[in-house]
Amino acid sequence: MIKRLRVLEIAGAQVQVFDTPANASEAAASDVRQAIRISVQATGKAVLGLATGRTPERVYAHLVESHRAGSLSFRGVSTYNLDEYYPMGPLDPASYRTYMHRHLFGHVDLAPNRCHVLDGTVPEAFAADHCAQFDRWIAAEGGIDLQLLGLGRNGHIGFNEPTNLPLERAVGLPTRGVDLHAVTIFDAAAEFGGEANVPRRALTMGVATILAARSVVVLAFGEAKAQAVAASLQGPITAEVPGSLLRTIPGKVAWMIDQAAASRIADVGL
Ligand code: F6R
Repeated sequence: MIKRLRVLEIAGAQVQVFDTPANASEAAASDVRQAIRISVQATGKAVLGLATGRTPERVYAHLVESHRAGSLSFRGVSTYNLDEYYPMGPLDPASYRTYMHRHLFGHVDLAPNRCHVLDGTVPEAFAADHCAQFDRWIAAEGGIDLQLLGLGRNGHIGFNEPTNLPLERAVGLPTRGVDLHAVTIFDAAAEFGGEANVPRRALTMGVATILAARSVVVLAFGEAKAQAVAASLQGPITAEVPGSLLRTIPGKVAWMIDQAAASRIADVGL
């Protein structure tokens, strides 16, 4: 039994607070395993939306462990990653394709033509087509069963960065090319050996694509995420805080966070 300190209901979202990131990751891995099993049993397939970054690393480690133990197969599973830097070669050590290979794809029985990461090598003139095609592939699969998300310090989901778009436009944003926010570039600096080397652009799954998932698990760990978590859950629903847009799909989102990330949620007494 994984130790949850609290389970809160905030604005239609379930918020599970754990004592450690390790326990939150174990719970998230358990949700992913269950989503795969239920969906494969019901329809013969499962579609996962996946995140990269530091936060989900332990979730992937648990999934790989379950696969090695013989208790989890990815046959019938398709995956769609949230984002990729642009331009970016798939074999670049800093690419999200490489990250996924290192943490998951290289260790489980996922068919190579079912692990989809936006292509950072697509020519500029065809990037928009490629992104639209990514959304069509997801739609043709019947949509995403479970979307795993991290949260940027600036509240971004995928690389949907804070903007001043009106809400109705923000929730309709498709998969597309974007400029990265200064906070995102700063936070990626270590991966690239300095801020100057971080690509300024990326391709990201759209807000609309994320919101269309049948269920969403958001992970956030550490004090550095506390402000973005509180703003997403309790601030105004606005494109300035992309995480807050998840409140437009009540009943579908589970936040799995540690105590430090929960520390600025008001009136929770943590
Ligand atoms: C990664 C992604 C980003 C990260 C977020 C948090 O695919 O889409 O939104 O989830 O930037 O990154 P970490 O986990 O490194 O703090």
